[in-house]
Amino acid sequence: MDEISSSIIPTANVIKQAPILILVFKEKSNNLIVGDNLSIGACVENICLRATDLGLESLWIGDTIYVAKKIAELVNHIDMELNCAVALGYADQTPKQRPRKHLAEIIEWVE
Ligand SMILES: Cc1cc2nc3c(=O)[nH]c(=O)nc-3n(C[C@H](O)[C@H](O)[C@H](O)COP(=O)(O)O)c2cc1C
Repeated sequence: MDEISSSIIPTANVIKQAPILILVFKEKSNNLIVGDNLSIGACVENICLRATDLGLESLWIGDTIYVAKKIAELVNHIDMELNCAVALGYADQTPKQRPRKHLAEIIEWVE
């Protein structure tokens, strides 16, 4: 592990406080890696959208990558690969939305 994400401590605090943590595993396989990851992304996005519908807050967590094997051991799933996690709960703060880029900065139209 060369570099640790600066979000790791705040992420660990969310995991400790959230009443629900969904662990997202994928089968260990060298096939369909891109397809699997796209599907997992769509699945997690849907979990977050549905949580919002239900009045819950969610945090999509990629920082589990630093302790993925340890978590897999803890839940007896070393046969699978931990991709990410989603914490669900009720927020105790309402931070302001972070600045957004203008569409023109991130889209290139090709004619
Ligand atoms: C794939 C992915 C992984 C993320 N992993 C983490 C994480 O480990 N810890 C964390 O605090 N936030 C994580 N986030 C949340 C982002 O930091 C950010 O809060 C979220 O995407 C909402 O962005 P916004 O605040 O600009 O609306 C992750 C988001 C995505 C899409």
